[in-house]
Amino acid sequence: MALEFSLDSLIADSCEAGCIVIGVHDKGKLGTSAARIDAASGGHITRLIASGDCTGKPGSSLLLHALPGVRAERVLLVGLGAPGALDAARYQRVVQEAARALAAMPAQLAASFLGEVEVTARDEAWKLRTLALAAAQHAYRYTATLKPQGPGVRLRKLVFNGDAAAAQGLQQARGMAIGSDFARELANLPPNICNPAYMAERARQFAAAHPGVAVEILERADMEKLGMGSLLAVSRGSANPPRLIVLRWHGGGDAKPYALVGKGITFDTGGINLKVQGGIEEMKFDMGGAAGVMGAFVAAVELKLALNLVCVVAAVENMPDGDAYRPSDVLTSMSGKTIEVLNTDAEGRLVLCDALTYVQRFEPVAIVDAATLTGACVIALGKHASGLMSKHDDLAAELLAAGEATHDRAWRLPLWDDYQQQLESAFADFANIGGKGAGAVTAACFLARFTEGQRWAHLDIAGTAWGEGRKGMSTARPVPLLTQWLIDRADADSR
Ligand code: BES
Ligand code: MN
Ligand code: ZN
Repeated sequence: MALEFSLDSLIADSCEAGCIVIGVHDKGKLGTSAARIDAASGGHITRLIASGDCTGKPGSSLLLHALPGVRAERVLLVGLGAPGALDAARYQRVVQEAARALAAMPAQLAASFLGEVEVTARDEAWKLRTLALAAAQHAYRYTATLKPQGPGVRLRKLVFNGDAAAAQGLQQARGMAIGSDFARELANLPPNICNPAYMAERARQFAAAHPGVAVEILERADMEKLGMGSLLAVSRGSANPPRLIVLRWHGGGDAKPYALVGKGITFDTGGINLKVQGGIEEMKFDMGGAAGVMGAFVAAVELKLALNLVCVVAAVENMPDGDAYRPSDVLTSMSGKTIEVLNTDAEGRLVLCDALTYVQRFEPVAIVDAATLTGACVIALGKHASGLMSKHDDLAAELLAAGEATHDRAWRLPLWDDYQQQLESAFADFANIGGKGAGAVTAACFLARFTEGQRWAHLDIAGTAWGEGRKGMSTARPVPLLTQWLIDRADADSR
């Protein structure tokens, strides 16, 4: 992570920085720092408000250069909306706009005064974590396969006005940002670089550099011995052999571990059911679940969380080939259950089911999987909310709360057994697709058949893992949600 954070007690007009970030409410109401800048500059802000140049609308911003009486080179005014406390969602909008503007300007050092804005039911640490995480997210640049774009001079350090009580928020943001960058980079890399072997190598490198982390990589022969007939069937059409990546963090003594499982389809062509309806070129992101759980694992290690954690990633490429698996093939999964393949494009659940069976040998206290599993989830929830499915109300509530806290939100969909009949098959225990209705739910129902008796939740991140269009990048979701959940679990377990 390139961006550095620190805390200081700052005064807006005398603060030496490339840029200072100041909030302004609409209707001309000035907060502490805005009032200071206004006074120091002889009423400059008041005049901008009177002229209509500065509206104070949430999500708006205005960049000022060389303001008389102000030490910083630039002042970024960001709109806060109506006076009074902001709710968390509006604050997020403001913070995102500030982070976007900061990342685009040629300033190396910036100071943010947005921590002084009042937010309903959120404390100082939460505000600074939110500010820092947003800044880090916008500071990311993809450079692996092109020359660096944008300004040569870039933000290196962000200082916040705050006291030691808020330091924990910055620390958490740092962990989440490192984990997010890990996930983002993996997901953004093209599939001719980021294949299953590459993902395994990255896991190995991370483990080697971090005491307390163990890694095990299972290859095809190992998986054959375990009887992972479902995962291996998906991999058969690809010249890139599969890997099952197992990362373990030992931070919680002899307690049972939490488990994260990720769908790591490094490219999803659809297989013999080739994706001919468009969108195939986005399918390098089909390992977003794997990147997300690995990123959360990285964050947990960076934060040295006091818990045990196991992360299992099924890294497989789904290709059509003379040896590829076919629609109507019947597979035997590691669990012994047989599966009729009615569509080779419903491959995510076929690799996840064996990973979910495998992870149970660690006797986890809870399992959360993340997967870019269904187009149906994108239709249901769009790009703002991940789909959450679980039979465990308490676990679902924990994950929803973690998503709210980090603005990496999920929305719950049902996982009722009523939907299970859609998976019925005449030739196997069940089929891998559930027909027309409720595609996100029937995919989760398929996974539920491999997690019986487990405290398990499923996150469908098909809509949230990457941005829209040709320039859409990995969002690193659900790294913040999962990391927050793990932070909360470590907290709760230590009480
Ligand atoms: N990786 C896709 C799901 C997906 C689609 C994610 C679009 C993000 C954007 C998954 O493997 C898939 O192809 N699912 C099928 C399932 C269907 C065949 C039952 C789908 O959603 O169409
Ligand atoms: Mn598919
Ligand atoms: Zn897929």
